[in-house]
Amino acid sequence: IGQNVIAYDEVVSTQPLAHEAAAKGAVEGTIVLAELQTGGKGRLGRPWHSPKGTGIWMSLIIRPAIPLPKTPQMTLLTAVAVAKTIREETGLPVKIKWPNDIFIGDKKVCGILTELNAESDRVNYLVIGIGLNANSLESDFPSELAQIVTSLRIESGEPLKRVSFIQRLCQIFEEEYDHYLQAGFARIKQEWENHSYTIGKWVTLQTISQQLEGRAVGLDEEGVLKVEDQTGQIHKVYSADVNYRAN
Ligand code: BTN
Repeated sequence: IGQNVIAYDEVVSTQPLAHEAAAKGAVEGTIVLAELQTGGKGRLGRPWHSPKGTGIWMSLIIRPAIPLPKTPQMTLLTAVAVAKTIREETGLPVKIKWPNDIFIGDKKVCGILTELNAESDRVNYLVIGIGLNANSLESDFPSELAQIVTSLRIESGEPLKRVSFIQRLCQIFEEEYDHYLQAGFARIKQEWENHSYTIGKWVTLQTISQQLEGRAVGLDEEGVLKVEDQTGQIHKVYSADVNYRAN
């Protein structure tokens, strides 16, 4: 991972550039980096604020030989790798909010956007976008974001060395990924649960088809979130917007 690096100064978004590179045959582990994104993309069609020089805006290309339904596991793996790297490099107490947001306290520091290219039921490649607020100061965030996002620098009081962070992230990702391909999802599931902000919390979920309230109790063997409602029934949640209640 990270043997091949494509670095730009300014782009609209690293995601389409990574798709383009992948379609042209870029090797697995290629990363696309930019100092500035003018049209950074978040999940669910939201914009991703990506100002110049303060963040890590990167897209990673992987080509895992796994069946389509397992691709969400790659997002969980990425979240684990980012969380471990942040802990190691800064000592900050990071948590993962299902499925793929990295939090410090009650503020988001990193988001992950996984995009899939597949033919029939075969995975061609995945583009995993990682947006990490590294060196932003509070004054860098637009006012509507200031209450809900943070950066590693704000939390640790020290600037982050972005290049060594990315190197370490690539190493940790590779360790997790190699282990996953050989031995399966069990270790990721364990590490994800250990870092989880979500497990044990009361959540209100808005999925495409329903609204659901209950306690998040864990991941299943596939990486799907299990939520127990008031009647004790377990629901499996593949994809949803999650809200948290205090109790
Ligand atoms: C989210 O939490 O909504 C996901 C945010 C993902 C942002 C990253 S930054 C690098 C890559 N390029 C993009 O345009 N988006 C992802």
